[in-house]
Amino acid sequence: MNTRTDALADRMDQIALSPTIRGTMEADRLRRAGVAVIDLGAGEPDFPTPEHIVAAAHEALNAQFTKYTANPGIMELRQAIADRYRGDYGIDVGPENVIATAGGKQALFHAAEAIFNPGDDVVTHTPGWPTIVEQIKMAGAKPVIVRTHIEDGFDVRADALVAAITPRTRAIVINSPGNPTGALLSEADAERLAAEAARRGLWVIIDLCYERLVYDNVPHRLPAIFAKAMADRLVLCGSASKAWAMTGWRCGWLVGPVPVVKAAGALQSHTTSNVNSITQKAAIAALTGSQQCVSDMLAEYKRRRDQVLAWLAEEPRFVCAVPKGAFYLFPSISEFLSPDRIRTSLEFTDGLLRDEHVVTTPGEAFDAPGYLRLSYATSLEQLREGVTRLIRYARQHS
Ligand SMILES: Cc1ncc(COP(=O)(O)O)c(C=O)c1O
Repeated sequence: MNTRTDALADRMDQIALSPTIRGTMEADRLRRAGVAVIDLGAGEPDFPTPEHIVAAAHEALNAQFTKYTANPGIMELRQAIADRYRGDYGIDVGPENVIATAGGKQALFHAAEAIFNPGDDVVTHTPGWPTIVEQIKMAGAKPVIVRTHIEDGFDVRADALVAAITPRTRAIVINSPGNPTGALLSEADAERLAAEAARRGLWVIIDLCYERLVYDNVPHRLPAIFAKAMADRLVLCGSASKAWAMTGWRCGWLVGPVPVVKAAGALQSHTTSNVNSITQKAAIAALTGSQQCVSDMLAEYKRRRDQVLAWLAEEPRFVCAVPKGAFYLFPSISEFLSPDRIRTSLEFTDGLLRDEHVVTTPGEAFDAPGYLRLSYATSLEQLREGVTRLIRYARQHS
């Protein structure tokens, strides 16, 4: 097969493949060879999808609910999404403000394509989930990156975002709680940022993928705060993936002003059409059913977070901020790196997989060399063993 890439469209030069792919492939190879790999790399819940959600999907299948649906999603789902955002945050939205998408990722993609023009600046923050920056570039716009800092718990600060605004800035994209840091934009910062965005007529797009995974009762009503100041330029991108352990079902949503929803509908009508019909019924069950399953999973993630932080503290050269949300730790490993030993976090994760069979994700994947992402969306037993091996590897090589 021809493997030349110079035959491809120019735009493909702009798009980076995730640096995690190599590690994932190597982990797969080891597993197939029968090696007991400890996976702290997963960006998805280890819990099964709750039973009542699976039952709704069975019902849909049995009823032959297996055809195309309305392009933005069935009305019952759009209504359920709108109700949830109205109920959770008190914002004034109805089904006309909602389109169901194939994951939060597609919602963010639609928002980028619908709003950014070539040549626009779009402010976002890093360490961050790489898709946001790639989507900005795919829309022809320029990412303007604001760094957050471990000393500050990686919190996303309004002042830093505002300072990055240029005359060409069209939008600000925020991910809170953030992947990989678990950091938040605080409500106080949200107030400041919303006022500034409103004054300057900027769009704000919030990736709320982990919105239901916030620990320690930290108030995090970002949709309410932004909607009060600038509802006409606010786009919320949410997802069923993490809160209800539904990553494979592919259901997310965009909530925003009607023109954005219509534009997203147009894009979707020429790409993926509708979210899988069965998934839509399952998502309704997730949104409208008991939320006890979400609370239970959150409590377990919190237990794991606190436990892994304690285990990691056995080796004080791992420097770690306490994540306020999501399900990742993002320690600095710079104390273990040096020019004559392991030089980069990418080399560190490669070696850790090779020698100790532990999968982690290097900071390079999140524009943050010198860090390591550890997912605690796995059992405490796996976590204990994984951290033991991690500490052993780090000590042996420093
Ligand atoms: C920060 C963030 N946003 C959005 C997503 C998209 O998830 P999905 O497309 O499964 O909803 C992810 C998935 O890992 C994520 O980490």
